[in-house]
Amino acid sequence: MIGLALLGAGRMAKVHAEAISAAGARLVTVFDVAEAAAASLASKAGASVARTAEEALSHPEVTAVLIATSSDTHVKYVIDAVQAGKAVMCEKPLAPTLWEAQQCVDALGDRSGKVFLAFNRRFDPGHAAVKKAIENGEIGNLEQLTITSRDPYPPPLEYIPKSGGLFRDMMIHDFDMARWMLGEEPISVHSRGSCLVDPEIGKLGDIDTACVTLVTLSGKQALILNSRRTAYGFDQRIEAFGSAGMAISDNPKATGFKRFSSTSFGAPDRFRAFFMERYGDSYRLEIEAFLNGLAQGQSASVNAIDGLRAVYLAEAAGASLRLGKAIELKPNCEITWQ
Ligand SMILES: NC(=O)c1ccc[n+]([C@@H]2O[C@H](COP(=O)([O-])OP(=O)(O)OC[C@H]3O[C@@H](n4cnc5c(N)ncnc54)[C@H](O)[C@@H]3O)[C@@H](O)[C@H]2O)c1
Repeated sequence: MIGLALLGAGRMAKVHAEAISAAGARLVTVFDVAEAAAASLASKAGASVARTAEEALSHPEVTAVLIATSSDTHVKYVIDAVQAGKAVMCEKPLAPTLWEAQQCVDALGDRSGKVFLAFNRRFDPGHAAVKKAIENGEIGNLEQLTITSRDPYPPPLEYIPKSGGLFRDMMIHDFDMARWMLGEEPISVHSRGSCLVDPEIGKLGDIDTACVTLVTLSGKQALILNSRRTAYGFDQRIEAFGSAGMAISDNPKATGFKRFSSTSFGAPDRFRAFFMERYGDSYRLEIEAFLNGLAQGQSASVNAIDGLRAVYLAEAAGASLRLGKAIELKPNCEITWQ
């Protein structure tokens, strides 16, 4: 049985701890700078509490390390865990900035492909079915991709300055999804952003409503729409349009419930509330993919290079917004803007 160390004991760490046990692996030890949080999670999972990250990484029963700490700690922990000879799964983003993401990949070298980057949405059954339909040629040649990703409500205002901004914090998932679905690297990004949800977000230097277009060398187009607020729940849809058809991953409803009355004709139940409810299956399936890959000695299907490329797109989108023009993208993640 694979033994894991979990770094972090916050929201995502709790989700991962449950998925580890459901996948038949063993959570050996937990480390978090917030000792009480680590102790509470460890006791629920039957794991020990590590006093330091080094202690967790050097535990003899630990084969793999799952990093679910705050984003600004990922690079150090990824490098430390790889150097300790452990398999690594790391929450998104790989790093808060392109510079740090590049430093991480440079330090990892060939081992970048072994670090599993937790872009969980790739494992959502609906999104994965769209990807499969594209790969199987069911929609002919993919021509246009539309990704709609809207949160039900904005994060607390105190989170905005440390979030890195909407492109790096929120749209990072969609940049990865776009690259994965397109099957080609974008050669240009053009973004528009507004503050329509809460002017306080604007005063803090961020946007809450964004629209980004990506274009690949062969001319495939992707449109990504983000908002920090909906009136109806978490809105996550993907539409892939091709020469011979279209494939859609729609919002799953919270239940199959429908209401009929004199004014409501089969109105369905609400969408799932937020990411914990909406992407529950994907968190379970990504851990399974990580553990299966490990058992079979395979490289990670989504890895640190994907993490770097998503941060590259996020920073380029920020530059496009700032400069008011499309930004050229390079295959080596070179900065083409000032
Ligand atoms: N994949 C997804 O859908 C998804 C959703 C939310 C968050 N995330 C990512 O997961 C990560 C954690 O987010 P969260 O929402 O669980 O945050 P959180 O604040 O609930 O948890 C973060 C934990 O990290 C701990 N921590 C901070 N610095 C540390 C350090 N140096 N060493 C050890 N522990 C440290 C904190 O004490 C806290 O308990 C972030 O990188 C975030 O971007 C991913």
